[in-house]
Amino acid sequence: MIDLLACPECRSAAANAEGCPDCELRPSQAGGVIDWLANERLDVPEPDVNRFYEARPFPGYAEGDDASSLLDRCRRSGFLTALDRSIPPDAKVLDAGCGTGQISAFLALSSLSREVVGVDACSASLAAAANFRDRTRAENLTLCRGDLFSLPVAEQGFDVVNCRGVVHHNADWQAATRSVARHVKPGGVLVLGFYENIARLPHRIRRRLAAKRRRPFTILDPVLRRSDLDEEKKLTWIEDQYRHPLEWCLPFPQVVKLLDDCGFDWVRSVPPTPAQGGLFDPTPRPSAFGLALRRWGWALTPGDQDAGLVGYVAKRRAR
Ligand SMILES: C[S@@+](CC[C@H](N)C(=O)[O-])C[C@H]1O[C@@H](n2cnc3c(N)ncnc32)[C@H](O)[C@@H]1O
Repeated sequence: MIDLLACPECRSAAANAEGCPDCELRPSQAGGVIDWLANERLDVPEPDVNRFYEARPFPGYAEGDDASSLLDRCRRSGFLTALDRSIPPDAKVLDAGCGTGQISAFLALSSLSREVVGVDACSASLAAAANFRDRTRAENLTLCRGDLFSLPVAEQGFDVVNCRGVVHHNADWQAATRSVARHVKPGGVLVLGFYENIARLPHRIRRRLAAKRRRPFTILDPVLRRSDLDEEKKLTWIEDQYRHPLEWCLPFPQVVKLLDDCGFDWVRSVPPTPAQGGLFDPTPRPSAFGLALRRWGWALTPGDQDAGLVGYVAKRRAR
């Protein structure tokens, strides 16, 4: 694991969980999290966003969650199943902005020979992630507290970088995306999940309507209409979707262009996820018109449970 870590300040690859021998930056290691932001030399990014997640860690665990309930739940998601199926069993995986670490833990528990690193700025989320990791003995999962803009992990160090629902919560989402992309190896894959500006139109309208009355219209929100979700989960959804202090909706073509410029090739947009085969198998790159149709298709999908969160899978060109 040590070779996957790097100093978030001077970028030295000699850094490890004890600290950086070159610039002498030291993380705290309380609670099984390598916490670089505990060092006063570093700033916590996006303080309003950080306060928001410290008060309500996202997405949180269900009461009594254990390894088998997490694996069952994640395997009911077509996207997570395809992601797991596509990542080699011995891959090095970075989950950038891992929150409470469900995706990191799922990928680590699915193959104990993977090395998975989850990084987030939120200490409350990471405490929940560490507690779950320790209970489920997912020893191949390392958790670090750090900033997306200077991640405490090796550049070009990972076969797969997953970053879901994170870059759009940063004032400079382009710089955040470029920073995350730097950690993908040549030939490796970036899986970026973000609010897409056309796909999220229905939710933006719902949010606008809710703002006037200070609470959402349950009838208009397919997640709040679900009878299988408990009140706590719905409250987390309301906070995250209606009261978040900072979110951007990114135009898909701009994301593709930005990653083109960073040396990445189109693999696919998500949804749909392939029912069989790999999420990383290349698909034909759509024309501008084809991509526009896809974006309106997402917006008009009835019962969209992700409120316009879509994915872009891109492969880093070999050197
Ligand atoms: C909506 S949650 C997504 C969590 C997880 N990726 C998932 O899909 O369940 C967004 C997470 O991104 C983290 N985040 C946002 N901006 C960040 C930054 N600049 N540095 C580190 N973490 C950041 C937040 O702390 C939060 O935990």
